[in-house]
Amino acid sequence: MFSPELLVRAHEIIAQYPDPHSAILPLAHLAQDHDGWLTNEAMAEIAELVGTSPADVQGVCSFYTMYQRRPCGRLVVSVCTNVTCLVVGGPEVLAHLEARYAGDDDVLVEEVECLAACGNAPAMQVNYEYHEHLTPEMAAAVVDDYKSGQLRARGVSGGTP
Ligand code: FES
Repeated sequence: MFSPELLVRAHEIIAQYPDPHSAILPLAHLAQDHDGWLTNEAMAEIAELVGTSPADVQGVCSFYTMYQRRPCGRLVVSVCTNVTCLVVGGPEVLAHLEARYAGDDDVLVEEVECLAACGNAPAMQVNYEYHEHLTPEMAAAVVDDYKSGQLRARGVSGGTP
C-alpha cells in the first residue's frame, strides 16, 4: 500500500498529465522502487488513483519488461547478449554472473536485448545504470561493489534510492 508520503508523490505525478491514465507507468515505477517489485496490491491502488481497473493497469505494466512481477532482490543486473555484445563476450558475462549469484536473493541476473550501448559492448545495467566494456570478472566486481555499498544502488526502476 502507498504510504502517505508516497501518496503525495503519486498525486504530484498524476497532476502532471491531462489524463490520469497516462500516469500509470510513472506510478508503477514509484511503487516498484518503494516495494522492490510491482505487487498486485500496488497495481490495484494505482488503478484506483487513476480511475481505471486493476486489469487495465496489469495489462499496461505486463507489456514492459522493466517491471518486476515477483520479488527480485535489491539489485537487478541486466546483461545484454544481443548481436554486438554476443560477439565480444556478453554471453560469457551473463554466464559468469548467473553462476556467481545463483541463490543470492539480493541479486537478480537477467538476459536482455540490446541496451543501446553497442559501441561500448559488452554492456550491462545494474538497476538501469550502465556499465560497459566488461569482462566477466569486471562485471562481477561491479556487482560486488553495489552489494558492499561502494557503489550506490538506485531503486530497481532506476529511481533515486
Ligand atoms: S548489442 Fe549489446 S548494447 Fe547493443
